[in-house]
Amino acid sequence: MSYYKVEKTDRLEGEIKIQGAKNSALPIIIGSILAGDIVSLYNCPDISDVRDLLDLLEKLGATICFFDNMLYIDGTNIKNMPLTREEMSKTRGSILFLGALTARFGQANLSYPGGCNIGKRPIDIHFDGMSALNIYIYDEEDDMIGAYTEEIIASDVNLKFPSVGATENVMLLATKAKGITRIFNAAKEPEIVDLQDFLNKMGAKIKGAGTDCITIEGVEELHGCSYKIMGDRMVAATYMAATAAIGGRVKLNNIKGEYLREEINVLRKMGCYVKYKKKYIIVSREKKSKLRPMIFIESGPYPAFATDAGTCFVAALLMTKGLSVFRETVFENRYTVAEEFEKMGAIIAVAKGKLVVIDGVDKLVGCQVDAKDLRGGAGLVIAGLMAEGTTIINKVQYIKRGYENIVSDLRRLGAKITEEN
Ligand code: EPZ
Repeated sequence: MSYYKVEKTDRLEGEIKIQGAKNSALPIIIGSILAGDIVSLYNCPDISDVRDLLDLLEKLGATICFFDNMLYIDGTNIKNMPLTREEMSKTRGSILFLGALTARFGQANLSYPGGCNIGKRPIDIHFDGMSALNIYIYDEEDDMIGAYTEEIIASDVNLKFPSVGATENVMLLATKAKGITRIFNAAKEPEIVDLQDFLNKMGAKIKGAGTDCITIEGVEELHGCSYKIMGDRMVAATYMAATAAIGGRVKLNNIKGEYLREEINVLRKMGCYVKYKKKYIIVSREKKSKLRPMIFIESGPYPAFATDAGTCFVAALLMTKGLSVFRETVFENRYTVAEEFEKMGAIIAVAKGKLVVIDGVDKLVGCQVDAKDLRGGAGLVIAGLMAEGTTIINKVQYIKRGYENIVSDLRRLGAKITEEN
């Protein structure tokens, strides 16, 4: 298994293009099933979560061509087949097959999804939302779920929590429902807006994504289209946190700064200079200006501080004198990476997986650490760039789920990081 070898780096300097968004590509790829036609996607990140999803699509009968971040999907011959636990276990995004296959075939049969072990990750809100559209959902043996409907009927859907995945599943179903569906307390993440814009290019009639009420007027048919996937705001947040952590000046292209307003706000409070426009973000922190500790950062559904950015910002503050406190409100177990930070000499405490207290130390020391989930792994890369000596990061397959070029991107900015076998 390969691993990352990371050495102390004094400065990050230069500019890079941010990859396409994982959490936009996954729902859009599954949404292409609704067209039963050819869909062309540009700026699609070549990451293992996408590759795993494409394997499932090919199993269902789609024809796939994927190179240079251009993805062509011909869904004409897709058949409805059960998706097993092993097939569904690779990425959380696979739960969206429930809505997409039911929308196309009137039924679906799949197992509970996988995803990072950052919490229980139930799917009750998905079930509530889909049931409101006249979908009968039932449990089968071996952790399999069945969904069935004679007719998808539009309705008002109230989500008890603005779940990203549940909002996406209901949007996929409602595009083919009879009548007008309104989703209240919908997730407002930018990736939901990207999914709306993609589905509308396929002929859907959706509006309101990005607000807490999304309206979908059902249509008979959807058709193929071509679409460019938005930049990945969490990859951008990772590189912003890395620049804050070790100092330097970095320009990130192909990313909409406004999608990271809260994270930028925190960086400015930490003492960084940040400038952003429609298509880029510049972050800088000069060596002489020390980072300021953050007495309180709380994650939450968008537009709050993103839960996925937490571990990288925690990493950036591990050597910042003073106390920094993070409260995680979205997942139950986001900070298993804390024990790996401790191995490197950090003073960090996590209460009930949700409250993180850091007391900044003078130095971290490189050692062998294990990535345990996608964003925790990214945090370890940042800590390795800060630490004296060499840090070996094992189980990098977790990081490769979401980062297409983290090693080459950071090397381009001057980071001492290599992938070794
Ligand atoms: C999406 O996960 C993202 N994944 C996550 O990114 C992201 O952290 C999360 O949204 C929040 O923004 C993808 O888009 C593939 P949720 P999702 O449904 O849809 C609870 C990453 O690192 N919940 O909004 O699974 C759930 O347990 C990943 O890129 C229920 O209780 O997130 C969690 O505590 C990690 N019942 C909270 O809601 C449900 O039916 C938020 O979950 C659904 C969710």
